[in-house]
Amino acid sequence: MLRKPLLLAARSTTCRTIVERTPMTRAMVSRFVAGATMEEALPAVHELARDRYITLDFLGEDTTDLSQAAGTVTAYQELLAALGEAGLGDRAEVSVKLSAVGQFLNADGEKIALENARRIAEAAKAVGTTVTFDMEDHTTVDSTLAILREVRQDFPSTGAVLQAYLRRTEADCRDLSGEGSRVRLCKGAYDEPESVAFRDKHEVDKAYVRALKVLMEGDGYPMVASHDPRMIAIAGELAAAHGRGADDYEYQMLYGIRDGEQVRLAAEGKRMRVYVPYGDEWYGYYMRRLAERPANMLFLARSLVTR
Ligand code: FDA
Repeated sequence: MLRKPLLLAARSTTCRTIVERTPMTRAMVSRFVAGATMEEALPAVHELARDRYITLDFLGEDTTDLSQAAGTVTAYQELLAALGEAGLGDRAEVSVKLSAVGQFLNADGEKIALENARRIAEAAKAVGTTVTFDMEDHTTVDSTLAILREVRQDFPSTGAVLQAYLRRTEADCRDLSGEGSRVRLCKGAYDEPESVAFRDKHEVDKAYVRALKVLMEGDGYPMVASHDPRMIAIAGELAAAHGRGADDYEYQMLYGIRDGEQVRLAAEGKRMRVYVPYGDEWYGYYMRRLAERPANMLFLARSLVTR
């Protein structure tokens, strides 16, 4: 019931102002966001790197300004250099939202985002790691996959995110299941219309399993991005059925969610990667986490009342 209003609020500047000014919000946000700066986030990365892999997201989306897009590229370049210096190139990659690097700036947005994405991929390659492009709402999918195709020509390990709730995704999984391809399969976090997406949870779960089957059967590297115990169990069964070893696929979860399960999978010898966001532009990301689990919202409300 709360999912739709929360996702609408995620895109409202008025709501953003109110939420950002709420005194307790910062404390709540820190559950999901590792810090406001790279320096604040890196200790959490070092801690996680003991038993897990990491992907770092410099928060930001829907950039309307060329200099802001350039600033995001610089932030990723600095982050990647720091990861290289810390010897984490083999443990940590980065996740990038193309709308944060200019995808919708103007008529040239796609070209700008492509150039910026290439710069980030170059910086990642220099320290022995790679990039995965996050997937935003359904209107961005064609553009994001077109940019992915271009970037992969020079940086073939660049990964994509596909969202199981989109009706098109099973076909996209087939297109991206070839050798060298890296696909992070998630359920999908935006409010999408029935015409393009399954909206019923059961339908989304079934679509996730269908898409996972395609990826596990294929020759690429599936990245199982879900906290759902059923999806995790099915992924393990499918991987075994297709003769995949522990290094031939991985599990992924978000920072601050089901930490115990992350530790358990890593201890079993599974590849477990944690998506670690940091930065000041946490509003949209945080609201999507609230929308996924309204109990998070009640927790926030309770802490405001009992203050
Ligand atoms: P589901 O929502 O069914 O949750 C299963 C269980 O996980 C819940 O019962 C609860 O225990 C726990 N859980 C899930 N969400 C929680 C939360 N917010 N707080 C507390 N507990 C929670 N989406 C997208 O559209 N584009 C993208 O690029 C990405 N990228 C991405 C990367 C990675 C690594 C992950 C793990 C997820 C994404 N997502 C995403 C988000 C994804 O689409 C989806 O919204 C969430 O992962 C929740 O779906 P689950 O598969 O976890 O299942």
